[in-house]
Amino acid sequence: MTKAYYFSPTGTTKTIVETIARTIDINTEFHNITRPENRTVEPEFTPDDLVIFGVPVYAGRVPNVLKTYLSKIRGGGARGVAIVVYGNRHYDDALLELTDILTSCDITVIAAGAFIGQHSFSEILAKGRPDQEDIAIAKAFAEGIKNTTLKTPVIPSGNRPYRSYYRPKDENGEPVNFKDIKPTKAVNCIQCGHCETLCPVEGICIKCCTCVKECPVGARIFIDPQFVAHKIELEEQFSLRKEPELWKAGKTDEN
Ligand SMILES: Cc1cc2nc3c(=O)[nH]c(=O)nc-3n(C[C@H](O)[C@H](O)[C@H](O)COP(=O)(O)O)c2cc1C
Repeated sequence: MTKAYYFSPTGTTKTIVETIARTIDINTEFHNITRPENRTVEPEFTPDDLVIFGVPVYAGRVPNVLKTYLSKIRGGGARGVAIVVYGNRHYDDALLELTDILTSCDITVIAAGAFIGQHSFSEILAKGRPDQEDIAIAKAFAEGIKNTTLKTPVIPSGNRPYRSYYRPKDENGEPVNFKDIKPTKAVNCIQCGHCETLCPVEGICIKCCTCVKECPVGARIFIDPQFVAHKIELEEQFSLRKEPELWKAGKTDEN
């Protein structure tokens, strides 16, 4: 059976995972693990399962908020596909880290991909991605997975040991700490509570921007000057379009 799991506060990872999973198997069982209440049951698989895991890249790594949940997967010898989606800066060690996590849970990762999604912080960086070209690439990648029975593991790009979390620097070259900042509730907030139904954490804000992007009146924004400066820096430095990078076992049933 094909099972797909995704964490996707602003929806880009969801789009890629759904495209890949539906191309492989129209009857895929989907698990949206963005909300904490959907991360309470430990996933368990069998050798007959093909499992797809998709996460966004946060600071060059797998989002910390998922680490405990992912470590509890009981892979049972299933085959897996590891997917990360990043905002056109870089995926750094996130895809390798996700692959290693799945492998350590007894899943053989037979394919892996780093895709690009509109940056969570920005209205312009990688705007509209994944776009039609990305979707076509994701579908072709999935066709290749669908047509293979191989159980050959892949090892995507990245460093071991993993580099530490990507930290933006201030004007003096000192690393900036965004830990305590969170979006404001501006005066035009209508107290509809929609943002609270979407928030993927129960504690410290992880800056995922789901509330910023989904607020019906635009009342949730980051105003911290260093955060805004970082966003502008990303937009300026990483405007050049990047393309998906894919790994899968070389041979398919057709060739
Ligand atoms: C806290 C945080 C850290 C991020 N770090 C990176 C990064 O290191 N590299 C990058 O290219 N994009 C980074 N992004 C952008 C997201 O990876 C990207 O926008 C992704 O498409 C978001 O996925 P989602 O739509 O499923 O939430 C970061 C986003 C957030 C919220």
